[in-house]
Amino acid sequence: MTTPNSPADLSAFWMPFTANRDFKASPRLLASASGMHYQDVNGRQILDGTAGLWCVALGHAQPKVVKAVQDMVAKLDFAPTFQMGHPAAFELAERLKKYTSDKFSKVFYTNSGSESVDTALKMAIAYHRARGDGTRTRLIGRERGYHGVGFGGISVGGLSNNRKFFGSLLTGVDHLPHTHNLEQNAYSKGQPEWGGHLADDLERIVALHDASNIAAVIVEPISGSAGVFIPPKGYLKRLREICTKHGILLIFDEVITGFGRLGTPFAFDYFDVEPDIVTTAKALTNGTVPMGAVFAKQHIYDTFMDGPAGIEFFHGYTYSGHPIACAAGLATLDVFENEGVLDHAKSMTGYWEDAVHSLKGLPHVIDIRTIGLIAGIELAPRAGQPGARAFEAFKRAFEDGILIRVTGDIIAMSPPLVLEKTHIDELVGKLATILKTLN
Ligand SMILES: Cc1ncc(COP(=O)(O)O)c(C=O)c1O
Repeated sequence: MTTPNSPADLSAFWMPFTANRDFKASPRLLASASGMHYQDVNGRQILDGTAGLWCVALGHAQPKVVKAVQDMVAKLDFAPTFQMGHPAAFELAERLKKYTSDKFSKVFYTNSGSESVDTALKMAIAYHRARGDGTRTRLIGRERGYHGVGFGGISVGGLSNNRKFFGSLLTGVDHLPHTHNLEQNAYSKGQPEWGGHLADDLERIVALHDASNIAAVIVEPISGSAGVFIPPKGYLKRLREICTKHGILLIFDEVITGFGRLGTPFAFDYFDVEPDIVTTAKALTNGTVPMGAVFAKQHIYDTFMDGPAGIEFFHGYTYSGHPIACAAGLATLDVFENEGVLDHAKSMTGYWEDAVHSLKGLPHVIDIRTIGLIAGIELAPRAGQPGARAFEAFKRAFEDGILIRVTGDIIAMSPPLVLEKTHIDELVGKLATILKTLN
């Protein structure tokens, strides 16, 4: 069914990560967005509980970002960054470096989280080779991890549906166990107490393969797409210690946690654990223009620069450092730095946590977990129909004017960081009503 403002024919667009037939039978079409809200093609306001897809940290159509994009598209529509450059790409890299408190001094641009992940994995393997440690090629991910959809990302990722249709994937990949455990950690606020010891499984993998064959470990500091899994206390520090001990690079995939989600610039700040490489995307440009960035430590870059003259890293994308994306990124950082966004986000986390945890005890709810401005609400699955209950909640929420995200039977919320208490009340209030009446 289409509406007067919707396209006449929805059939040509093969939609990503979508039940196409179901969607096209009853579409949800967004027409415009501003601040905390989308408007659908019927003019209904929909409160965004997800910041798009974890992208729009500053709220939709942030005026300074919009203006920067408009200015740049008129000034420099495109410029290659292979063997040449343009000022905004260098300026943004410098600003990003500072935003990491100078912990990461090199920035490699991509266009998405998936590309950032594949870039980081290739960077890690090539780094060891450049050091004369060319046997270090194995990559270690984690069960239930999500690292985008490139072949590298799905290989180190640990979501069965994202892997099982696509053949043999990369060889030489192992997985740490996931940390999700409802018996031990249900209804945790912030980091769960139980599970730090699960990082020790890395020692088992090292014993099996020998450290001399292992290039890198990649984890999301907090998993979002798999359903909001928060690292147990001590877990990330332990991973860092084991990686350091064995000369293995540690990669944090901060595609969703980067840029303020926890009230700090990055999750590595929040958890006080420094990886060697960080992948970002999404909120880097407030979602306005596709862009990703990989941050690397100085010593990684230096290793490449010590090699033979010429191109040091045979990798890059046509749109790496696209001028319009750089303009959006610079304006996004301006807003982060000048408008108190992180302080505001921090000031909202207590209210957020209490509000979301007030859903405990409602029908079907088997866990609630929160950290920063993130929440996961896990529902009991319907017998023989995994995911169906949460998907119905998602559809009902859209009808009721709130946007949530579901993965399996887990509802995930990650609102723009600029939200106010009234938005939290509306989101949680409407969700409570839906949960009370859901089959
Ligand atoms: C942790 C993580 N890595 C990578 C990606 C992939 O990003 P993209 O969809 O921009 O390729 C995502 C997307 O949600 C993500 O959450």
